[in-house]
Amino acid sequence: MMDKKVLVVGGGGRCHAIVDALSRSQKVGKIYCAPGNAGIAAQAECVPLKDTQVDELKDFAIAHAIDLTVVGPEVSLAAGIVDVFNAAGLRIFGPTKAAATIESSKDFAKQLMARYNVPTAAFRTFDDYGQALEYVGDGRFPVVLKYDGLAAGKGVVIAEDMAQAEEALKDMLLDDKFGKGRVVVEEFLTGPEFSFMCFVDGEKVWPMTVSQDHKRAFEGDKGPNTGGMGAYSPVPLISDEDIEYSLEHIMKPVAAGMVAEGRPFKGVLYGGLMKTPSGVKVIEFNCRFGDPETEVVLPRLETDIYDVFSAVVDGTPMPRLAWSARATLGFVMASKGYPGPYEKGYAIDGLAEAEALGDIRIYHMGTAEKDGRLVTAGGRVLMVVGSGDSLESAHAHALKAVGCIRCDNLFYRKDIGWRVL
Ligand code: AMP
Ligand code: GLY
Repeated sequence: MMDKKVLVVGGGGRCHAIVDALSRSQKVGKIYCAPGNAGIAAQAECVPLKDTQVDELKDFAIAHAIDLTVVGPEVSLAAGIVDVFNAAGLRIFGPTKAAATIESSKDFAKQLMARYNVPTAAFRTFDDYGQALEYVGDGRFPVVLKYDGLAAGKGVVIAEDMAQAEEALKDMLLDDKFGKGRVVVEEFLTGPEFSFMCFVDGEKVWPMTVSQDHKRAFEGDKGPNTGGMGAYSPVPLISDEDIEYSLEHIMKPVAAGMVAEGRPFKGVLYGGLMKTPSGVKVIEFNCRFGDPETEVVLPRLETDIYDVFSAVVDGTPMPRLAWSARATLGFVMASKGYPGPYEKGYAIDGLAEAEALGDIRIYHMGTAEKDGRLVTAGGRVLMVVGSGDSLESAHAHALKAVGCIRCDNLFYRKDIGWRVL
């Protein structure tokens, strides 16, 4: 029966991919998305509420008899949306505020990993500028400095020398560039990174297929860190043994640890992992679907996603997760200047031509409609995802499709997938 009503909270490419997956469900009859965007509007009814208007979203869910709410962004989770919905007896997919701390506090995540023997970089946490500087001066370079709080992927600095470390620590601890907070000083690790997202309900963990993000702005992995400039799935560099190890020694112990700490996790636990010369180690945890990873992972999910969300929310049996053998690879088209300042409002054309090529899905990350035309409305604007029998063919499809898209203010990296292509 396709009668379920679902509300998706968020408005980026990740939410577009979630809406897209829900629209393939045999259970779902109506999808709302708050706030959504111009692309999501083709598959869901957009609701003019911000992702942090938690009480208004709860009232909307009650008024529209929503069966299930799915939360995209961390800001909504950190604002306690799940606690508020739970208190009102509403079904919602995502962790409580207490469980979301695994992402919102890097220090909490590091202490948790230390307590449960989960492999990660050696670290120390500081709130004093002088002490942090002294510790860094006694150690090795490069050194990793992480602001202890939400900083939209921009609170991490890899300092090559003392001058860079001093500047970053000054920003984070003296000038409070991201707010009042602490800094985690971490050992620098090397190796390929991969994203391992799992559905989690308390101690139960169901792995998704792995993907790889590209965090740097420019080709050759140069330029500043961004929210992610492209992704692909599967990741041939990561073996079945690596995945099994990551599941048994990282994701399961962390899920069990969260239960033991009185913060049972429900939702998607995202492990940002690195395959180092001494084994797989944790770089970070997120408490939600990754962006842009979701845009390459969910198109490969063949199981009805409404059933998957329901199993986590209700604690009922999880259906077997089936993944398409076809590979996916996607390019993020971003506004020139991103991740720094950028302009908005540039017209975008050619999407229909790109989609008509076939084996293409276009997820809108930051678009809006203005006077009947599609325009840019964010730093990351579109994610063009190709699929194919191999990563090579997925790359070729996506590359051809981005070539169809015309806009005066977008850039993208052609080298997504370079580590394996
Ligand atoms: P995070 O926000 O913690 O994922 O950090 C952003 C990026 O910085 C990661 O994707 C890595 O590329 C890099 N990074 C973070 N921590 C480390 C580390 N300990 N060693 C090497 N690179 C790191
Ligand atoms: N792509 C990294 C993230 O979602 O945080």
